[in-house]
Amino acid sequence: MSKKFFIQTWGCQMNDHDGEKLTGLMLRDGYEEVKSSKEADIVLLNTCSIREKAVHKVFSELGRLKKEKLQRPLTIGITGCLAQQEQAHLFTRAPQIDFVLGTMALDKLPEVLTQAQINGEKSINVGDYPDNHLFPTEIAKRKPTAKALVTIIEGCNHACTYCIVPRTRGIERSRPFQSILDEVKRLVDEGYREIELLGQNVNSFQGGCNFTELLRKVSAVEGLEWLRFTTSHPMNFTKELAFEIVSNPKIAPFLHLPVQSGSNAVLKRMLREYTIEEYLERLAYLGSGRSQLCLSTDFIVGFPGESEQDFQKTLDLLDEVRFETSFSFIYSLRPGTSAVRLKDDLPAEVKQERLLRLQSRQAHWTLLDNQKMIGKIVNARIENPILNDQGFWIARTGSSKTVHLQGKAGRGPEMGQLITAQISGASPHFLAAELI
Ligand code: 5AD
Ligand code: SF4
Repeated sequence: MSKKFFIQTWGCQMNDHDGEKLTGLMLRDGYEEVKSSKEADIVLLNTCSIREKAVHKVFSELGRLKKEKLQRPLTIGITGCLAQQEQAHLFTRAPQIDFVLGTMALDKLPEVLTQAQINGEKSINVGDYPDNHLFPTEIAKRKPTAKALVTIIEGCNHACTYCIVPRTRGIERSRPFQSILDEVKRLVDEGYREIELLGQNVNSFQGGCNFTELLRKVSAVEGLEWLRFTTSHPMNFTKELAFEIVSNPKIAPFLHLPVQSGSNAVLKRMLREYTIEEYLERLAYLGSGRSQLCLSTDFIVGFPGESEQDFQKTLDLLDEVRFETSFSFIYSLRPGTSAVRLKDDLPAEVKQERLLRLQSRQAHWTLLDNQKMIGKIVNARIENPILNDQGFWIARTGSSKTVHLQGKAGRGPEMGQLITAQISGASPHFLAAELI
C-alpha cells in the first residue's frame, strides 16, 4: 500500500506554488495525497517566516505533531522559508523533525525523504542551486483553482532592512522566457483562462527579455483571458511597464505596488531606495489609466523610530493616493535582518492602535470605491462554485474585488468560468451581485 502524505502551506502565493511543486513530486513517486495530517504517514510543513506570527504557527503545529508521533509512525519534514533560514538549527529546536528542505532545493525532496525514511537519519538539503528556478514545472500538481500560478523569477536583490526574504529566497534568478511561454500555453490548453506570474520582484525579470516584453509575449497566448502578476518593487517600475499595464486589455486592471510607509525618514531606515516623491512619480506613469485600475499596496506600521508625525504621513499618503485596497502589518523583528540593530522602543499598544487607525482609514476608502460600483455590470471569474452557508458563489473581478454572487441550488457555474453580474451591494470587503 502506498504511503500517504499531507502538505500544509503558509505564506504567499510563491509558497503556495512551491507546495504544488512538492505535491507533484510526491505523486510522481507514488505517494498518495490525503486531506489531513491525521491520516498521513508523512507530513510536510511548507513554512513562511515573514513575521513572527507565521513562525509561531509552525511551532504550534510541530507541537501538535509531536504528540501524534508518539502514537504512530510519522515522518515530519520542514520546507519553505523557515527551513531555509534556520536550517539544521531546526533539529535542535524541534527534535521531532526528520528532514529539512530549503527553498532552493525543492527538487531534492525525494533524496531527503528517502534518507529520513529508509535510514531513519535526520536529513537536510538547503543547497544553493542557482538553477532551481528551472524546476520542471510540468510536475507541479495544481490545486483546482480558477487561476494558475507560474514562477518567472526567484529571489530578491534589494536589501530592505526589515525583510527576511533575500535570506530565505536568495538572489534573483530569472527563468528563460521561452520556458514560461511553454508552460502558459500548456496551462491554457488544459483550460486555465487566468494566469498569475510570480516572483518576489517580478519587474526586475531578465530571462532573455525584460518584464514588459514578457507581459506582451504571455498576453499574446491565444485563449488567455486575464494576466496578473505579483509582486513589484517601485524602483523597478518603469514608464514602459506602466503603459503596458494600462493599455494591454489582457492585463487585469490591478496593480500591487508596496509603499510600506509615507515618511521619507522611515523609508530611508527601511532602505527602500525611494522617497515618497519618487513613489508618486512612478504612480503618475500610469497617467489617466490610473482611474481604471485598482491600486493596492503594503504598509508596515511601528517600524523602529516611527514617530506620530511619521505615521501621520502614512495616513496622509493613503488619503492622497486613495489606494483601493491595502495590506498592513505591525513591524515584526526578524532575526538576521539588519533592522535588528535599530532601536525599537515603541510600546506594542501604540503600534496596535496605529494599525487599527490605518486599517479603518483604508476601509473608508475601499467602501467608497465599492459603493461607486453599485448598479454596474462587471465580469468576474468564479473562484468557488459551491454555494456557501449564506447562499453565495464567490467570484473575483479583473480588478481583484471579491464578489458574492446570489446563487441558487442545483447546477451552478463552473470553477474558473467568467460570468457577468450586476453589482447590488457593497461593503469594505466585498461586492454583492446578481448573475445576469
Ligand atoms: N514585519 C512586518 N511586515 C513585514 N513585511 C515584510 N517583512 C516584514 C516584517 N519584518 C510585509 C511588507 C511586505 C509584505 C509581503 O510583508 O509589507 O511588502
Ligand atoms: Fe513568507 Fe516571504 Fe517566504 Fe513568501 S517569500 S513564504 S511571504 S517569507
